[in-house]
Amino acid sequence: MIDEFLPKPEHRFTFGLWTVANRGRDPFGSEVRPALDPVEAVHRLAELGAYGVNLHDDDLVPFEASPAERDRIVERFTAALAETGMTVPMATTNLFSRPVFKEGAFTANDPRVRRFAVAKTCRSIDLGAELGATTYVMWGGREGVEADAAKDVRAALDRYKEAVDLCCEHITTQGYDLRIALEPKPNEPRGDMLLPTVGHALAFIGELDRPEMVGLNPEFAHETMSGLSFHHGVAQAMWHGKLFHIDLNGQRIGKFDQDFRFGSEGIRDAFYLVKLLEDSGWDGMRHFDAHPYRTEDSDGVWDFARGCMRTYLILADKARRFRDDPEIADALMHAQAAGLSVPTTPEGGLAAIIGGAEDEAALAAQGYGHERLDQLVTELLLGVR
Ligand code: GCO
Ligand code: MN
Ligand code: MN
Repeated sequence: MIDEFLPKPEHRFTFGLWTVANRGRDPFGSEVRPALDPVEAVHRLAELGAYGVNLHDDDLVPFEASPAERDRIVERFTAALAETGMTVPMATTNLFSRPVFKEGAFTANDPRVRRFAVAKTCRSIDLGAELGATTYVMWGGREGVEADAAKDVRAALDRYKEAVDLCCEHITTQGYDLRIALEPKPNEPRGDMLLPTVGHALAFIGELDRPEMVGLNPEFAHETMSGLSFHHGVAQAMWHGKLFHIDLNGQRIGKFDQDFRFGSEGIRDAFYLVKLLEDSGWDGMRHFDAHPYRTEDSDGVWDFARGCMRTYLILADKARRFRDDPEIADALMHAQAAGLSVPTTPEGGLAAIIGGAEDEAALAAQGYGHERLDQLVTELLLGVR
């Protein structure tokens, strides 16, 4: 039997090394799975049909490694990439695990900590460029505060901008083919984090020295934590030409950052998101930033990875069915969905609008058939259409 939902490299699925290597530690319990060698992760993900892996500097090269050890590790990893045909499209920096960052990294009050963070990021950018990455993600894991008295948010944003500008300067000076993608998150691990949503991050980019080099890496879990629609956030990022990368996973509103398998929660928003990416011809990565449940042993990790990709492909198939379904097409006509693409301004311009005589009562009496349309989508997702 042909499996029509078999992931293939052409689907551009990528996983963070830290996702499949997640050992199940949480604030209440220790690791439940053994460490995973990055080289094994590359081989296993290649077998499952992934396109590439992404990494934090420390996922691959331990912070304490000497330059000679670093080169040996990178060489062994590069050989695994060459052997499997896997790529590293995105790289990022761990600016959150080490105790030095407990008060912040780019926005720490102590300038020496900020300089340490920028230097670590520049080294990490070098590693990403060496591995062929073209996107550099910045997630401000420790950029935030609990004791509000201790941090002036406006000064923190000045310093955040300065750090991103310095990283852009490094990329430009070195001549790397890299763009930066900021990843918003409302809280966790900090009580309140800077750049908490897609909207905040988009506005921040406009204040940078090189705004054209910087875009977004929105994450399903993070927007959902704020109770926002993920696919609306992604659509707006696209509208601004700022969707540079994407983090796919599963999340319920009002919970901690669950980072579940893609589609395991929020299946409706996941569907509209996949539909948006597919309909718009998004040619970037479908990147998973999720963790296997803590209940899983090593086999469960690969069930998790397979599940993320399979659900994406199933939802992409649903998006095609949505397009081809005559009843849905009819319901969309009733909802006047195509009317939104007609400019508001008629021939004759604003004067024609002001001088127009719309029949308010007739317009108000129209129905839009959303109940029927939405039920058709529900039935599509439930597999009865
Ligand atoms: C999280 C974040 C991270 C980042 C990663 C890449 O909530 O832990 O989503 O997983 O995406 O550090 O910068
Ligand atoms: Mn997350
Ligand atoms: Mn993420």
